[in-house]
Amino acid sequence: MTRSSHLSIKHLTPAGRRRVLAEAGAFDGSRFDALLQASLEDWTDDVGGFTENAVGVFPMALSVATGFVVNKVERFVPMVTEERSVVAAACKAAALCRPHGFHVKAKPPLARAQILLVPDRPGAVSCAPLVNREAERFVAIVRGEGDPLVKYGGGLLAIEARKTPLPGEPEATLVNLTIDVGEIMGANKATRIAEALGSLIEKHSSSRVAFKICGNDTPERRVRAVAVWRKEALGEDVWKRKNRDVGNADPPAEETRRLGDDAIGRFLLAQECAEIDPERAATHDKGIMNGVDAVCLATGQDTRAVNAGFWVEACRGGTCRPLSRFRRTTEGHLRGELEMPLAVGVKGGATAHPMVVHNLRTMRCQTAAELMQVIGAVGLAQNFAALFSLTNEGIIASHERLKKGS
Ligand code: MEV
Repeated sequence: MTRSSHLSIKHLTPAGRRRVLAEAGAFDGSRFDALLQASLEDWTDDVGGFTENAVGVFPMALSVATGFVVNKVERFVPMVTEERSVVAAACKAAALCRPHGFHVKAKPPLARAQILLVPDRPGAVSCAPLVNREAERFVAIVRGEGDPLVKYGGGLLAIEARKTPLPGEPEATLVNLTIDVGEIMGANKATRIAEALGSLIEKHSSSRVAFKICGNDTPERRVRAVAVWRKEALGEDVWKRKNRDVGNADPPAEETRRLGDDAIGRFLLAQECAEIDPERAATHDKGIMNGVDAVCLATGQDTRAVNAGFWVEACRGGTCRPLSRFRRTTEGHLRGELEMPLAVGVKGGATAHPMVVHNLRTMRCQTAAELMQVIGAVGLAQNFAALFSLTNEGIIASHERLKKGS
């Protein structure tokens, strides 16, 4: 894409928006039109391949957020949400931090799985010491014997066992697996690898597998997004809302700086409150997930897995805390940072859904890392937009205005 993603399409009809986006190179308009015109039966057959007992389809609005610059690349971001103003808020946050946009880093896609083992005869003890002693050999055997991810450059990397006394079995053992899942989300493959390792441990120990399953606490598989909102841009936004009657007049520079300073001060009170109050932290974090879930839905991700990883991280330490952090820079601007676990993929699972294929193309995301980067940026944008709105005109007034498109 050579053209900017900074387009205003809200005043157009859906068909008009599609035309403008196609002209801007966001997507292939005729392919999208064909998808929209597919019959109910076509869709039911496609969707029927993913879930059982499909009887029809359940349309929700698919929107495209504009104005995002992520790691210097212009991005159009498909979003699916039932909540009004989420997309408009994302666009606004993206527009207000242009031209630099979001700088986002994705860590390697390390998934987790767990196996619970219990002694297979009375008097047998936990197999944790044996598994830890043989860890390297067991990993090599699993990798050599049908680890489905090795041929893609990933696969089982490490295992660690610990005795985990349970009320019903004091000699139980939990084995944690770390698996490089590459471009896929990887839940099924991780479970298959855990099954293979479980059988191997059974062969070499006096334990039997009680369960084996992928894990959703994936602290290593994370994304970190940073953006700076300049006080002049924020002040101008506040000024324009206060002075709607003066049309396109340029706001006075001194006044916008002052308004921007004040707005950042109020914004930071909301951040501080989330840092000390778990109830507020939960609402603050929910604002992040408004954006994250919307992009995950549009790209066929397992939203429950993404939420499990996010919320376990938010509550690590026994209380809910904000996963984003906002501070004033030495120059007086607002710097936001979001760091969160994120288990998503661009291959496998529902990513074969024709609309997901289309949406990933619209985002120009070919790798899981790129998808993580865009989602991280949207999560931070959404959080910024919520805090900026609720510490200024208030969320209801802001929703009403965004709904009217002003
Ligand atoms: C509403 O869906 C999300 C917000 O409540 C988030 C927040 O309060 O930070 C606006």
